[in-house]
Amino acid sequence: MRNRTIGGVAVGAIGLGGMPMSIEGRPEEARSIRTIHAALDAGVTLIDTADAYHLKPGETGHNERLIAKALASYPGDTSNVLVATKGGHVRPGDGSWHVDGSPAHLRQAAEASLKALGVDVIGLYQFHRPDPRVPYAESIGALKELRDAGKIVMAGISNASVEQIDIARQILGDDGLASVQNQFSPAFRSSEVELNYCARLGIAFLPWSPLGGIRRAGELGTRHWAFQAVAEAHSVSPQQVALAWMLAKAPVVIPIPGASRPESIRDCVRAANLTLTAAELDRLDAG
Ligand SMILES: NC(=O)c1ccc[n+]([C@@H]2O[C@H](COP(=O)([O-])OP(=O)(O)OC[C@H]3O[C@@H](n4cnc5c(N)ncnc54)[C@H](OP(=O)(O)O)[C@@H]3O)[C@@H](O)[C@H]2O)c1
Repeated sequence: MRNRTIGGVAVGAIGLGGMPMSIEGRPEEARSIRTIHAALDAGVTLIDTADAYHLKPGETGHNERLIAKALASYPGDTSNVLVATKGGHVRPGDGSWHVDGSPAHLRQAAEASLKALGVDVIGLYQFHRPDPRVPYAESIGALKELRDAGKIVMAGISNASVEQIDIARQILGDDGLASVQNQFSPAFRSSEVELNYCARLGIAFLPWSPLGGIRRAGELGTRHWAFQAVAEAHSVSPQQVALAWMLAKAPVVIPIPGASRPESIRDCVRAANLTLTAAELDRLDAG
C-alpha cells in the first residue's frame, strides 16, 4: 500500500479502526485477531484505538489489549506499525459515553494505556474529545507533559475545531501537533473545514466513521447514489469509492475505517490504489 505520513512517520494510506471489535456488537476474539492480521497482511501500519473502546464495566482498555495480543501473535514484522490510542472518554459500562479532559485523568489514562498496549512509549496519543468543564489548553498541556516525560512520541487531537487546532499548536509547538481525528464521511462533511486547515498546515487528518459508522457502513451505496454509480463504473465497492474520494482531498488524509471481519478491511485497503477522475470527484462532492 502507498504511504502517507503522521508527524514524519510513514504509515499506509488506509488505517484500521479498532472500535467495532470492542464495543456493542463485537465479535468473538478469534475473529477480531484474524481481522487485525488481515489488515497487517494487506499493508496496514496504522491502527486506531482508544482506552474507552470496551463494553462492560471494568474492562477499560479492551481494544488496546486486543491489538497488543494480535500484534504479539502476528508472524510477520510489526516494528513499523503505529498504534494510535486516545484518552479523555470514559465509559462506565452501561452503554453511555462521558468525557474527562482533566490533566489528572489524562495522566492516569495514559499510564493505563501504556500497560494495556504493553509498551514503554505510546506512538501517537490523541485527546479524544474536548471536555466543556476543562479549559482546552489544560487538557492539551497534559499531552505536552506526557510527551516531555517520554510517555508518548506524538500528540494528536480528536473532535476538534479550527480554534482548538490553533490552541493545540500553541501549546505543543508549531510542528508538535501530529494529527487531527474528526468525523468525515459522505454523510458527514462539515469537518471539511478542519480537513482543509490540516492540509494547509501539513497536519495528518484522520477521518473517523469514514463509511458512515458501524450501523450504516453497509448501506453507503444505497444512501449515496453517486458513490454507488462510481463504484459500478470501477467494479468496486461504494465503500472503496468513499475512501478513495477522501484520500483525493489532500495528501494529509488517512482514513481509519473500522472493521470486525477480514474481508471488510481487505476491501478498504484497495481504495489506496483506486484513482478517480476529476469529473467523478466533482460528482461525489456534489452527491
Ligand atoms: N475519535 C472519535 O471520536 C471516534 C468516534 C468513532 C470512531 N472512531 C474511530 O474511527 C474508526 C472508524 O469508525 P467506525 O468504526 O465508527 O465506522 P466506519 O469505519 O464508518 O464503519 C465501520 C463498519 O464498516 C464496515 N465496513 C468496513 N469496511 C467495509 C467495506 N469495505 N464494505 C462494507 N462494510 C465495511 C465494518 O463492518 P464489519 O464490522 O462487518 O467488518 C464496520 O463495522 C473507529 O473504529 C474508531 O477507531 C473515532
